[in-house]
Amino acid sequence: SRREARFRIGVSQCSEDEWRRRMNSEILREAHFYEDVEVDIRTAVDDNDRQAKDIRELIAEGVDLLIVAPNEAAPITPVVEEAYNRGIPVIVIDRKILSDKYTAYVGADNYEIGKAVGEYVANVLHGQGDVVEISGLVGSTPAVDRHQGFVKALSAYPGIRLLAVEDGAWLQLKAEEKMDILLDRFPHIDLVYAQNDRMAAGAYAAVASKGREKEMRFIGIDALPGKDYGVEKVLAGELDATFIYPTGGDRVMQIAMDILNKRDFPRETILGTSVVNRDNALIMKMQTAHIGTLDGKIETLNGKINQYLVRYATQQVVLYGSLSA
Ligand code: FRU
Repeated sequence: SRREARFRIGVSQCSEDEWRRRMNSEILREAHFYEDVEVDIRTAVDDNDRQAKDIRELIAEGVDLLIVAPNEAAPITPVVEEAYNRGIPVIVIDRKILSDKYTAYVGADNYEIGKAVGEYVANVLHGQGDVVEISGLVGSTPAVDRHQGFVKALSAYPGIRLLAVEDGAWLQLKAEEKMDILLDRFPHIDLVYAQNDRMAAGAYAAVASKGREKEMRFIGIDALPGKDYGVEKVLAGELDATFIYPTGGDRVMQIAMDILNKRDFPRETILGTSVVNRDNALIMKMQTAHIGTLDGKIETLNGKINQYLVRYATQQVVLYGSLSA
C-alpha cells in the first residue's frame, strides 16, 4: 500500500521549450530530496486562457502550493489572486504579476539584465551604431524590463540609435518574420538585440537567408547549454554574446518546501546573471557538460533507491506472509 503524499505542489508553466524543460527537471530532481511530496506540472504553451484553466484545475485538485510562471501579467493576475485569497501559497517565478498577492518570487532581475546588455552593446560598438531590438511577448514582464533596462543603459551613449523595437513573442519564427520586415525597412543595421536566444536564432536565419549575416552582430539572452542553444551559438560565432537567465528550479523547490514546512523563507529571491561571449563560452560548455553527467548520476541513484525500496517492500510482504502462515 502506497503512502499518500503529504504535500502536493502544482506547477503552471506558461510555455514549453528547453528553458522550461530544464527548470522542470530541476524542480523534479530537487523533489527527490524531500519525502512525501508530489509535483504536478502543467504547461499552457503560451496561451493565457489555457494557463488560467490549468491553475483553476490545480486549485480544484487541492494542491497545497502553487508555482506559477505567468504567460502575460494582466490576464494571469486575477487567477493567481484567486488562489492566494483562498490561502494557497503561490510562488511566482521568472515572469511577474501585477499585484502583490503572492507568497514569494524567484527569478532574475530583468531590468538589470537589459542594462547589462545595453552596456555590453555600447562597448562592442564603441558608442556608435544602429541597433534593432526584438522584444519578448510585450504583455510579459521580462520583455518590458529587458527593454527598459536596455534603453536606460543606452541613454548614456547618444551615438547609438535604437532604430526599432518589434515584438517577437519569445518565439523563433515570429522573430524571423519581424527581422525580415526590419531588414527591408533599414538598409544599415550594426547589431540585433534579441531578448532571448531563440529569437536571436530566428533573426539570424532571416539575415543569413539574405546573405547579410556578416554585416551585423547578434546578442541574445538565456545562455542555455547543449547543441543549438545559446552557449554553442556563441562558440559557432553566430551570437556575439548571450546573458545567463538562470532557471533556478532547485531553488524554487527549496523555497516551496520551506513554505510548506512553515520555515522562514525569503519573499524575493533574485538570481544572478553573467555575460557569455567568446572569452568564456568554452569554459561554460565544459562545466555545464560536467554538471550534466552529475545530474545523470543523481537520476541513476534515485532509480536504484526506488528499486531497493520496491524490493524491500516485497521482501517484507514475503516475510510477513511466511510468519503468519
Ligand atoms: C522561456 C523564455 C525564455 C525567456 C523567458 C522570459 O519560456 O521564453 O527564453 O528568457 O521565457 O520569461
